[in-house]
Amino acid sequence: MMKNKLLFAVTLFFFTTIHAQKFENLALTPPMGWNSWNTFQTNISEDLVKQTADAMIASGMKDAGYEYIVLDDGWMTMERDSAGNLVPDPKKFPHGMKALIDYVHSKGFKFGLYNCAGTKTCAGYPGTRGYEYQDARFYANLGIDYLKFDWCSSDGLNAKESYTTMSKALKKAGRPIVFSLCEWGQNKPWEWAENVGQLWRTTGDITAKFDGYLDHGTWKQTGVMPIADLQKGLRKYAGPGHWNDPDMLEVGNGMSENEDRAHFSLWCMLAAPLIAGNDVRKMSEATKNILTNKEVIAIDQDKEGIEGFIYKIQDSVEIYVKPLSDNNWAICFLNRSGEPKNINFNWQDEIINDTLFNRTLDAKKVNYKLRDLWKKSNIGDTKKPLKASIQSHDVLMLKAYEK
Ligand code: GLA
Repeated sequence: MMKNKLLFAVTLFFFTTIHAQKFENLALTPPMGWNSWNTFQTNISEDLVKQTADAMIASGMKDAGYEYIVLDDGWMTMERDSAGNLVPDPKKFPHGMKALIDYVHSKGFKFGLYNCAGTKTCAGYPGTRGYEYQDARFYANLGIDYLKFDWCSSDGLNAKESYTTMSKALKKAGRPIVFSLCEWGQNKPWEWAENVGQLWRTTGDITAKFDGYLDHGTWKQTGVMPIADLQKGLRKYAGPGHWNDPDMLEVGNGMSENEDRAHFSLWCMLAAPLIAGNDVRKMSEATKNILTNKEVIAIDQDKEGIEGFIYKIQDSVEIYVKPLSDNNWAICFLNRSGEPKNINFNWQDEIINDTLFNRTLDAKKVNYKLRDLWKKSNIGDTKKPLKASIQSHDVLMLKAYEK
């Protein structure tokens, strides 16, 4: 008996230590925020951050749930100081990083920074390799809440080991910090990062292009559609506190309004982190309306945290479905083709099965009410077929709900 109790205690100890590796209870829904990279690259400054925070409040983004303001690559000087500490660039941040973080916090946001597991960041600034514990203490002392951790200059490193080391260093430093792994999906982080961080990139860098790639010779950026395609098979790895990250949003960065709406809808169907990457100080009404549609955001932020999937493809219209809490569903008809498409979807003939999460939408058994989440209007129920026309590169996004 005594032996059994001892065995139980030892097993419990091991379990809690393994699972205690990362901070628990962070990012229970996909993180939302803004990141400087997609629009500003390394042209960042304290004015930009302050103006962005203010604009996120004025535009309703904060109210819609955008929480983290993250500075990507380019916030440091080219060298560490004589004690080996990272140095925020005094030209870009003349009042110091701490004062800026205090400002962002005082406006009700959380704050994030970027670094890299390798010896240098992708833009050539000092990387963290060999300084993990020191940098983690530096971040905790500054009071950051989010760390994006990249994978440049990482030759010879083992991804799982490198990211685990940084995760442990953050834990040791003691301040809860969301840990965002950015190794571009090269080492299948979905298979090993559940207890290392809260989100992991699944692909290379996104670009504001609906389909295809942007080729730079030695590397290429991936458009919205191929990124969405690359999420296939990954949904079983996502859930509260551990998300697949198909990269930051390109809404407002040059695609058409239809394409931006389709991109945003898909990211919500995929339970993706919603990290805006546009200049929120100067966005159009259309961009603002897309980024702040609370009913669409609620699909992304549903507390069950189930990533959606393609139920079927009909005449170039991809039908994404996502089980939600309270037995509700989101359904998104995506017209990938270059011309408008008419859809005729008879709910009575379809049984939508999510075998992975054990959920079924069967309109013969339950009559669901339907709401068009972009038009913000109720459009009947699943007793009669859905007939609609969808513009090229656009979506019809619905919520089906019992009550
Ligand atoms: C990599 C990342 C990007 C961005 C840049 C910064 O390419 O994938 O998201 O952080 O580095 O240099």
